[in-house]
Amino acid sequence: TKFVNMAGNTTLTMIKPGAVRRNLIGPILGMITEHGFKVEALKLTKLSARQAAKFYEVHRGKPFYDGLVNYMSSGPIVAAIIRKDNAVAEFRELIGNTDPEKASEGTIRKLFAESLSHNAVHGSDSDENAAKEAAFFFSETERFCPEEWHCDEDM
Ligand code: TYD
Repeated sequence: TKFVNMAGNTTLTMIKPGAVRRNLIGPILGMITEHGFKVEALKLTKLSARQAAKFYEVHRGKPFYDGLVNYMSSGPIVAAIIRKDNAVAEFRELIGNTDPEKASEGTIRKLFAESLSHNAVHGSDSDENAAKEAAFFFSETERFCPEEWHCDEDM
């Protein structure tokens, strides 16, 4: 079966290299689970420059693209598929504005981002991209879903 995220109840997050380096995996995953997200897939991994370039290809040509690719391949990241009703929007709200100076109090980026370019976490911006990004990092056998989470609706 192929996951297409029809119900819109999953999103893909990355804890970015700077946040991993600053030992923030625990606090960030803690905030995510405290806000009602279930972890369906999880790994510590490292993107090559090519993989980072592919992940962010919609931004190719923008002035920040090369720096973004360089940063995202600079060290290990944590990737996760997380589940909650209306996951994409709920998670974008929890992470806050791309620029931590504009992010609301209590958001992950307000608390943990170093700067606009080193902003601690990624969150998918649409259901379609959430499905694409989940497939980028995880195979079906790396996703785990207890019966009571009703994940079949996404396939
Ligand atoms: P974007 O998709 O616009 O933001 P978001 O991550 O909130 O969906 O941009 C992707 C990443 O690119 C962003 O998290 C940080 C980096 N970036 C910059 O370094 N400078 C910029 O001016 C922008 C807009 C983004």
